Formats: sequence, C-alpha cells, structure tokens
Amino acid sequence: METIHTVAWMKQVASAARRDERVLGLVPTMGALHEGHLSLVRAAQQQCSPVVVSIFVNPKQFGPAEDFQKYPRPLDRDRALLEALGVDYLFVPSIEEMYPAGFRTRVVVEGLGDRLEGRSRPGHFGGVTTVVLKLLEIAQPRFAFFGRKDAQQVRIIEQMVGDLNLDAEIVVRPIVRDADGLALSSRNAYLDAEERAAARALYQSLDAVRRAVARGERERTQLLTALRKVIEQEPKVALDYAEIVEADTFEPVGNLRKTSYVLVAARVGQTRLIDNALLEPAGESFLVTL
Ligand code: PAF
Repeated sequence: METIHTVAWMKQVASAARRDERVLGLVPTMGALHEGHLSLVRAAQQQCSPVVVSIFVNPKQFGPAEDFQKYPRPLDRDRALLEALGVDYLFVPSIEEMYPAGFRTRVVVEGLGDRLEGRSRPGHFGGVTTVVLKLLEIAQPRFAFFGRKDAQQVRIIEQMVGDLNLDAEIVVRPIVRDADGLALSSRNAYLDAEERAAARALYQSLDAVRRAVARGERERTQLLTALRKVIEQEPKVALDYAEIVEADTFEPVGNLRKTSYVLVAARVGQTRLIDNALLEPAGESFLVTL
C-alpha cells in the first residue's frame, strides 16, 4: 500500500488510473477504522481497482464545542488494517494540504441539511459536502463508498453529486452492528462499560419500531412513541431527536407510505450517537432493515 500525503500526488495517481481505464474506488473516512469502514473497503475491492482509502479528520464538519481535538487518530493501527486488506492507496492529507491559507469556499446543499443532524450540529453538513467534493475532485473515483449509518449525510452527498454533475457514483452500504445491535462508530470508543451497555437502547428503540410496523402500525406518532418508550427506560441515554422521514426528501412522514427512515440521535454520557432503520414498502407490508 502506498501512502499519499499531497493533493498533487493523489491527482497524479487518479489521472494515471483514468488514462489506463482503471476503475478507481474511493472510501472516504476520518480514520479510527472499524468493521463498518472495512466492509466499505471490501465492497470497493469487489468493484474497483485501484482502491483508495482517505483518512482526514475534517475540522470543518465539527462545531466549536464538538470533539475535533479528541477524535481518535490511531493512524498506525488504521494503516495496518488497510495494509492487511490489500488496499492500494492510503490518502492522508494534512489540514494545510486540504485547506491552505486563504481557503474560502464552502459547499452547501440547500434544504436537506438544515434539519435533524443539521439542526443539532449547525454547519456540520456544509463541512461534510465541502470536504467530500474536494475528495471527489482530487481522487476522481468512478465509485465512492459510504455507510448507511449516516443516512442524511449520504442523501446530501447524493444530491450534491447529482446537482453538480459529478462523475462519481455513490455506493451506499449497510450498517454494520455489534452482536447486541449497537451500530459501529468510531465514537463508540468514548463509551465506558456502563455507557456501552446503555447505548444498546438506540438499536432497541429502532427494533421497537420494527415490531410495531410488523404489527401493522403505520402512524408516525405511534411509531415514535414506541421508540421513545425504549429510550426513556434507559436513564443514561438522553434523546436528541427521533423522527421518521421520507427517504428522498428527509421531510417527516404523516403515515408511513413510501420508503422512509426512522432516525434516532442521542447522548450517552458525553458521547453523541446516531442510528437509523430503513423502511421499504413490500406489498401490503414494510421491509425494515436495521
Ligand atoms: O462519514 C465520515 O466519516 C465523514 O463525514 C466523511 C464522509 C469521511 C467526510 O469527512
């Protein structure tokens, strides 16, 4: 695996891949890699060669009171994991390389990013789209791989790619969960043992929605009541938001009719976690994927 630190070098590798008609796949990450990231890498390797993994803890997507400083950066461990998988290139630019002095541009997808995560984390999605557009321009991937855990992020990136006629195709992969259902996240590393046990409530709250849907419940308020009941039983978990939105618009649904997401965000101690379930119409019923 070759480690690339500069934009110029990454662009050269991307141009060479293009010239040779190779299908470059990009897996953008902020490092602290877990099985969720590795599943994206494996998916990329099925479809693409070469595969580039980027690790960049992007300051522009963290609010002033958020965890940018303490975000885990186990680069040697990450590098070894990627090496073991046979990744071709690791792109690890510095902050100065991505945002040199005088950098002034911000990329904002209007509408989709002002609610839910966007409301709880003002400016977050502008930071995400700014860095993702840069990464797509620098690495010129044919396919770029993202996890469904960040469902709103994925929807916004898809919108940006469409609106700006970018060449990359966005591939969305399932959430990877621990045995007890907790969605894998680099931030799970912040949880102590009691918080880790309490964090299961997020998955369990989505599972309560799944069971209610299976019983035939379709009303948003009833489904959210089932979700909240589970969260309220766990004193270490403080709900930030729970919502059911239409998958395309991210507008709250009335009654469940179309493909939708149930989204939950909560604080477990100092750690903010998010999770979601995908609800897809299947005949008279709904397929619920956690
Ligand atoms: O999902 C993430 O890890 C980040 O938001 C991303 C897409 C790598 C952009 O910094």
